[in-house]
Amino acid sequence: MKKIGVLTSGGDCPGMNACIRAVVRTAIYHRWKVAGIKSGFAGLIDGEVFDMDVSSVSNIINLGGTILKSARSLEFKTRKGQARAHRVIKKAGLGGMVVIGGDGSLRGARKLAKTWKVPTVGVPASIDNDISGTDYSIGFDTAVNTALEAIDRIRDTATSHDRLFIIEVMGRECGFIALYAGLAGGAEDILLPETATDLEDICRKLEQGRKRGKSSSIIIVAEGDEAGGAFKISKEIEQRTGYHVRVTVLGHLQRGGSPTARDRILASRLGAAAVEMLIKGKHNLMVGVVSNRIKTYPLEHAWKCKKKIDRSLYKLTQILAI
Ligand code: ADP
Ligand code: F6P
Repeated sequence: MKKIGVLTSGGDCPGMNACIRAVVRTAIYHRWKVAGIKSGFAGLIDGEVFDMDVSSVSNIINLGGTILKSARSLEFKTRKGQARAHRVIKKAGLGGMVVIGGDGSLRGARKLAKTWKVPTVGVPASIDNDISGTDYSIGFDTAVNTALEAIDRIRDTATSHDRLFIIEVMGRECGFIALYAGLAGGAEDILLPETATDLEDICRKLEQGRKRGKSSSIIIVAEGDEAGGAFKISKEIEQRTGYHVRVTVLGHLQRGGSPTARDRILASRLGAAAVEMLIKGKHNLMVGVVSNRIKTYPLEHAWKCKKKIDRSLYKLTQILAI
């Protein structure tokens, strides 16, 4: 009987637990054993390996976060750290690894596969949705819905007080959360790292809106936007327009919460597919869902091919915000 290990790494996200559940139960269904590794690559280095069974993953599909815990490990980026992790894998008798995490974690997965010849499959999980080889990464849909709920609530108070709000969302160097939450939330403007930000133009549009009777507005800014964050932008807009601007930075609340049905289904499919790849002897790859079908790509595809936002969606936000 073969045995595989599973870990979650990097920024946690809703749906990681559903994915762990799928990995564990698919492996056991195929009569393989599974070990969980605590705290990502850091726990792997420290030998935090424990056996998991069917009931280890009971009642977790609905939970945010990750029961395996997550971490960022600088030590794993070094050859010495990887050698320690490799020794742990050998000692625990792990014939393969499933790494669930963002693009950084998939880079770590590739190190295991290429340098240390550990059969490894990566599963894209990040609220940022910045991983190529899959239409959506696990956690993105929940994060967008969480941000959207916040935008809707802020719109209530913005309307009551005739105010301009700037809401900053996460996403690292990518604008996916801002674009999707902004479009769904009817934002008056959306500032993305992928598009040039022209504060002069934003102020002009606000003025136009004011002239035709618009008394409140919401601008969504991605944390990676070139204008330097919601507070800086608010100051500039206040100076240029005389508006009183309120700022909300949504921050880590976008990383928590019960995963949406969409994320649970994606996580279940990807977790199961990862195990099936290992069973078939296919590894050094990532699994994704593209046009509703399971696809596999070499791990490096995840970060070498930069994922692009859909420009037509951005254009639509501009058209609908006139
Ligand atoms: P995410 O997976 O959410 O993108 P990070 O970029 O912080 O988060 O990556 C998570 C972890 O993956 C890092 O702390 C490190 O342990 C590992 N990792 C990232 N890049 C590499 C790399 N080039 N080589 C080896 N390990 C890496
Ligand atoms: O990658 C997920 C993410 O939440 C990004 O959106 C954000 O920039 C970053 O992680 C925050 O990282 P930390 O939790 O280490 O502050």
